[in-house]
Amino acid sequence: MDLIILDSFSGETVTTMAVARVVRTIGELRAALLPHRRAGRTIGLVPTMGFLHEGHVSLLHAARAENDVVVMSLFVNPTQFGPNEDLDRYPRDEGRDLRLATEAGVDLVFAPEVAELYPDGAATAVEVGGEVTSVLDGDPGRRGPGHFRGVTTIVAKLFNIVGPDVAYFGQKDAQQAAVIKRMVRDLDFPLRVSVMPTVREEDGLAMSSRNVYLEPDDRLRAVALSRALAAAEQQALALDSLEAGLSAARIELAAAAIEPEYLEARDAETLEPVAELTGRPILIAVAARVGGARLIDNVVIEPLAGLDNHE
Ligand code: PAF
Repeated sequence: MDLIILDSFSGETVTTMAVARVVRTIGELRAALLPHRRAGRTIGLVPTMGFLHEGHVSLLHAARAENDVVVMSLFVNPTQFGPNEDLDRYPRDEGRDLRLATEAGVDLVFAPEVAELYPDGAATAVEVGGEVTSVLDGDPGRRGPGHFRGVTTIVAKLFNIVGPDVAYFGQKDAQQAAVIKRMVRDLDFPLRVSVMPTVREEDGLAMSSRNVYLEPDDRLRAVALSRALAAAEQQALALDSLEAGLSAARIELAAAAIEPEYLEARDAETLEPVAELTGRPILIAVAARVGGARLIDNVVIEPLAGLDNHE
């Protein structure tokens, strides 16, 4: 669809721009994609819960650069929120999201109602088992495996509805990305998962829709998470010791009076615990409540080029 912008004095057309088309039903979306699929065009999907920030926009730009057609889903998925989590107050601003999606060159925005994706009687879920969903955020004392069951269920449904060639996720949700990659591998979804780097504010805070919950003082303290991860990476590599890295991170967090829910080093793909640099990418992940926001962030320590580390 084109938006025609008129000069307010002369009434003449100043410019036209393509506007992302919003569809609310599965049927409409499939019908809109059918001609593209028949013509052999590639489809990129960016799943979101809206309230877009520059992290989302980087995914949209990647999808725009690599595909013929770009679909963004905009759906606050209730099944991935626990009973005491922030589903009701999760920030929403559809008008702004549509403007940003249009600016990023999105073709179709899929923004369904809850009943469209979870009709009465829906009783099926997709669950990735094992360590990848039961540690870190998946620990039953934290968000629990039910959170990831909600994520994989909605993402599997979106994959089935859209049929993308590539789906884009952010590295900030490193565990979510690992879980989705495992689901795609285990269930043979015919698509590629592209994980894009975390986008940060100038002072290092990872962008997140939940940053709006931070009061000004907490916003200043929250930067300790990224500082802690940078210290962890630097010290782990300098001293060839993950424990030294984790200690450096704990010191940074304590200096900002932040008690982490977790601060752990794990294999970046399997999420198995690791005690030392292994020669494989290692995820250092942190979660902490800072004021009214529960924040997560991570860094991946890549094996040093040319070195096997300890293999
Ligand atoms: O990362 C998110 O915003 C959500 O978990 C996702 C992938 C859109 C599923 O609801």
